[in-house]
Amino acid sequence: MFFDRFKNFKSYKTETTPCRIKLSSNENPFDLPQWLKDRIGEAVKNIPFQRYPDPTSMELKEVIADFYGVKPENLVLGNGSDELIQLLTIIIGNPDKPVMYPVPTFPMYQVSADIVGKKKIEFPLDKNFQLSREKIGEALEKKPVLAFFASPNNPTGNSFDRALIKYVADRGVFTVVDEAYIDFSDKEDFLSEALNRKNLVVLRTMSKIGLAGIRLGVLLAKEDVAKEIDKVRPPFNITYPTQVIGRIVLSDGRQVIKEQVEIIKRERKKMLSELSRIEGVQVFPSDANFVLIKVNDGNDLHKRLIEKGILVRNMSHLPYMENCLRVSVGKPEENEIFIEVLKELVK
Ligand SMILES: Cc1ncc(COP(=O)(O)O)c(C=O)c1O
Repeated sequence: MFFDRFKNFKSYKTETTPCRIKLSSNENPFDLPQWLKDRIGEAVKNIPFQRYPDPTSMELKEVIADFYGVKPENLVLGNGSDELIQLLTIIIGNPDKPVMYPVPTFPMYQVSADIVGKKKIEFPLDKNFQLSREKIGEALEKKPVLAFFASPNNPTGNSFDRALIKYVADRGVFTVVDEAYIDFSDKEDFLSEALNRKNLVVLRTMSKIGLAGIRLGVLLAKEDVAKEIDKVRPPFNITYPTQVIGRIVLSDGRQVIKEQVEIIKRERKKMLSELSRIEGVQVFPSDANFVLIKVNDGNDLHKRLIEKGILVRNMSHLPYMENCLRVSVGKPEENEIFIEVLKELVK
């Protein structure tokens, strides 16, 4: 009886099958260099582990603010952006007001709404995975209070039409632009909108640029908006190790991140071009650190790739994603092996 509400609840699914080549979670494939790890090791050794961390994460916030060219007052930090998505779903508007988001997209918007018990307005992307004014108009008629747009979108990889995201914000809906993959995109971001509007915030994460293990997500907003959201954040959500490691990597390791992102972008270009030449594989454009492909039998190919030691994400369970696989950009040698094996398997 206590859990009746969750009888049909679909948890967030992730791929955990151990494989030689892991291209399933859109992580940065490169680890940190040893000199940076040594610096981290030294600092972690000196953490007073019996103490709670700084509840405001102030020193880390100063480094992140500098990283994004904003003020610490513009930031709310989360235990991954997952936590921030859930927090926003809980706090924005009254519980009886619905949440809107396009499908297919990042499943956490659906998962969070289901946990909180908020109604969902799911509306389809068009055949190019782009937002459509018509579908947005229909969604808005149902009076949502909160909208999520992942741009670049996961799992499709493309960026959304800015004008349509603004259109939603202009109708008074609290609009979250989830820019988890923006570091890999050459398109304009929504940062200045977030710093100037009362009903639009941007989400970023350190997970895609090399720090998935420390769980650090960032919300960027106008100062008074950030202050309201920060009020309801769990007090010690950013652990002591995360505060220490984040500070070091985002200051001393900035160049490392930049160089790794450049390699990933170069590799993506190479992968897109090679995939487009394989018969039986349809590949979609990507502004992210992964590519989406469509094949004849996605479930079978997913299984056979695992047999060859390669793990990619099977997207077939999501709406409009039949026979689609999402492949993270890996290290150059991993991408080469993936392409070779794929060619062999779809022959
Ligand atoms: C669009 C999008 N937002 C947020 C996240 C979650 O990021 P984090 O690791 O910071 O919780 C992901 C992870 O895949 C994502 O694809």
